[in-house]
Amino acid sequence: MDLERQKSAPICEALEQFQRRRVVPFDVPGHKRGRGNPELAQLLGQRCVGLDVNSMKPLDNLCNPVSVIREAEELTAEAFGAAHAFFMVGGTTSSVQSMVLSVCKAGEKIILPRNVHKSVINALILCGGIPVYVNPAIHPQIGVALGMELTAVEAAVRKNPDAVAVLANNPTYYGICSDLRAITELAHAHGMKMLVDEAHGTHLYFGDGLPVSAMSVGADMAAVSMHKSGGSLTQSSLLLIGKTMDMGHVRKIINLTQTTSASYLLLSSLDLSRRNLALRGRESFAKVVRMAEYARSEINGIGGYYAYGRELIDGVNVCDFDVTKLSVFTQGIGLTGIEIYDLLRDEYDIQIEFGDIGNILAYISIGDRIQDIERLVGALEDVKRLYAKEGSSLYFGDFIQPEVVYSPQKPFYAEKESLPIRRTAGRVTGEFVMCYPPGIPILAPGERVTDEIIEHILFAREKGCSLQGAADPRVDYLQVIKE
Ligand SMILES: Cc1ncc(COP(=O)(O)O)c(C=O)c1O
Repeated sequence: MDLERQKSAPICEALEQFQRRRVVPFDVPGHKRGRGNPELAQLLGQRCVGLDVNSMKPLDNLCNPVSVIREAEELTAEAFGAAHAFFMVGGTTSSVQSMVLSVCKAGEKIILPRNVHKSVINALILCGGIPVYVNPAIHPQIGVALGMELTAVEAAVRKNPDAVAVLANNPTYYGICSDLRAITELAHAHGMKMLVDEAHGTHLYFGDGLPVSAMSVGADMAAVSMHKSGGSLTQSSLLLIGKTMDMGHVRKIINLTQTTSASYLLLSSLDLSRRNLALRGRESFAKVVRMAEYARSEINGIGGYYAYGRELIDGVNVCDFDVTKLSVFTQGIGLTGIEIYDLLRDEYDIQIEFGDIGNILAYISIGDRIQDIERLVGALEDVKRLYAKEGSSLYFGDFIQPEVVYSPQKPFYAEKESLPIRRTAGRVTGEFVMCYPPGIPILAPGERVTDEIIEHILFAREKGCSLQGAADPRVDYLQVIKE
């Protein structure tokens, strides 16, 4: 990487130059640098509303970048070791969906683990692709879905030689990595594309001793959440491609659903974050690793909690672990993760990333300070002292392997009836149900509802998980396919 080149931030420089010209705006946005909406200007600040401008020649256009956006994308590609990087403004959801839509058409198969984010399955609803699930094992102690086992991917590839791609998470929300290098080689050996959801893996491109990144092992595409560990503004994201992909085709796919009014706040935040990561990423993430390791050892010292790390690596189901993730199994103190998530916010003014049935995840990033880590550890100690319970009646596992009856597009559009959820066992769901976060579907359209899955959903609701996906927000009712 050419560090001298990486010091520039073409979009930001163009924006600053544009601001200095004090151009009179007879274009959108209609707030006209905030003058038409003083409350907004007050809330966000003059600097921010002044930079909320529309595409124009000096600032380029995200739909077909030819100048400053193009240059910023090229610098990003260089920093991430990709053939090209697309700036995305619809979240990593848009990166994931463009990635899947670029390689998979109606009726084509894609091999993937079931514990994917809903955006992946939604992409299959959009394109009519057929998922071939490689079901991950569940860790017997912490109840978390593990990585894709290489032999299971091999079996799926052999059984489905017509599949067009393999998709993997790198890492999962909890920090678990599959053998990405071997899976990529396997996919390529069978003429399949390798797609990687790296929503939780931006830092892998800038860390020492961290798991491998998608581009470093030759994957074809990767959806990278710059707004998560990369430090850019919420909703900004990247789609990286390798040399094997046709950039013009991917751009056309992106433009199917991308806005024609991309926000320069988001674009400039991607530009600056890339520069920051390229110039200072290694040292920043070394600090993040030190903070996460310190927190892990302190939390494990409390007793009852289990903050897991590299000891999970078994070379089969867990091939690497992202130590920046502070994932903690909580059932040892008799509380679900979601109960602790709520207690931390309501009683201790600490907002963590998520709590599920068995775990919490505290996101440690380039913006954290050691005193905040101390506060989290102290609060967890307090929670144990004040709220710990006998844990014998707790549910186990965040994920139940479903029976897939139909690929997701058909049931999504099929005629459905709404039934009380307790009466749906044996029926096929026409809608999603998931806890958000993490957004991994408990049920996806086309899957068989079972008593065990119903109990799981109701337990998650009772404990306070935010359920999403179903038409009925409380999920008292579930829409199933008409028989
Ligand atoms: C694994 C994974 N992929 C994709 C996404 C979508 O990211 P975004 O919220 O930026 O659309 C998420 C969001 O949490 C995720 O966890």
